Amino acid sequence: MSQIHLELTRVGIEFPTPKGPFCALRDVDLKIKKGEFVSLIGHSGCGKSTVLNIVAGLYQATTGGVVLNGREVNEPGPERAVVFQNHSLLPWLTAYENVELGVKRVFKGKKTKTEMREWIEHNLELVHMTHAMHKRPDEISGGMKQRVGIARALAMEPQVLLMDEPFGALDALTRAHLQDSLMEIQNELGNTVIMITHDVDEAVLLSDRIVMMTNGPAATVGEILDVKLPRPRNRLELADNAEYNGYRSAVLRFLYEKQKKIEPISAKRAEKQLEKDAPAQAKSVA
Ligand SMILES: Nc1ncnc2c1ncn2[C@@H]1O[C@H](COP(=O)(O)OP(=O)(O)O)[C@@H](O)[C@H]1O
Ligand SMILES: [Mg+2]
Repeated sequence: MSQIHLELTRVGIEFPTPKGPFCALRDVDLKIKKGEFVSLIGHSGCGKSTVLNIVAGLYQATTGGVVLNGREVNEPGPERAVVFQNHSLLPWLTAYENVELGVKRVFKGKKTKTEMREWIEHNLELVHMTHAMHKRPDEISGGMKQRVGIARALAMEPQVLLMDEPFGALDALTRAHLQDSLMEIQNELGNTVIMITHDVDEAVLLSDRIVMMTNGPAATVGEILDVKLPRPRNRLELADNAEYNGYRSAVLRFLYEKQKKIEPISAKRAEKQLEKDAPAQAKSVA
């Protein structure tokens, strides 16, 4: 973990809208080292997915840019694999065949048929999916589908793994299992990871650094927290570790004090609550 290999410099983006251009991001600066695990956290709608999509090459920044290993990123590439919140598996293919699709894209002509088969099976094994590799997406659970999506991404041996709330749609127990396997895999393979999450515990447990984003429009990097907890990390041991809880409260303070978000819906709810309380207050005064 030494040299900078991924660099976002003054990244900004404007989306055309019927009401005129909307500035979603402004001056996003971020330098990431090889093998680093970075989380992006911030309130809903601040621009996290937009940052990830720019790094993935799916969106083009309006200002500034992204450089990976000295090369400007302008389009998607197999060295940057993306895992979305809702698996994007092809429904008519088995788990094995879904992974095969990615593997063929990267290794066609480089690996023999046997090598490819072994490689696909190896990656399915990493996410503990060997037992169900010949099932189709509609025959397996949400957590299992997400595992296959991760296996497919890993099997392409990406230098950078981009994950947009990969565990967001899963129940707490499944999420915990997948977080643990992701930590193990990343420890073994040393990929660079950028993961979006809105789960504070997930961010602290998994990350080397947590990038906290300000609210939009024109969202940017607010603060960056270095998480210096030794690895491997154990969720149970960390639960009452003072350092862990210190990091946790730093993120919570950023989100709920410094970048407090007032949703129109909760403002309405608050108004209603006030109306309800008003007669009671009047009574108590009387
Ligand atoms: N293609 C687009 N066109 C117009 N506005 C967009 C587009 N993509 C995202 N936005 C806007 O940019 C902002 C950031 O969105 P997004 O990156 O999805 O937020 P997050 O992932 O943090 O919830 C939002 O206000 C969203 O409405
Ligand atoms: Mg998003």
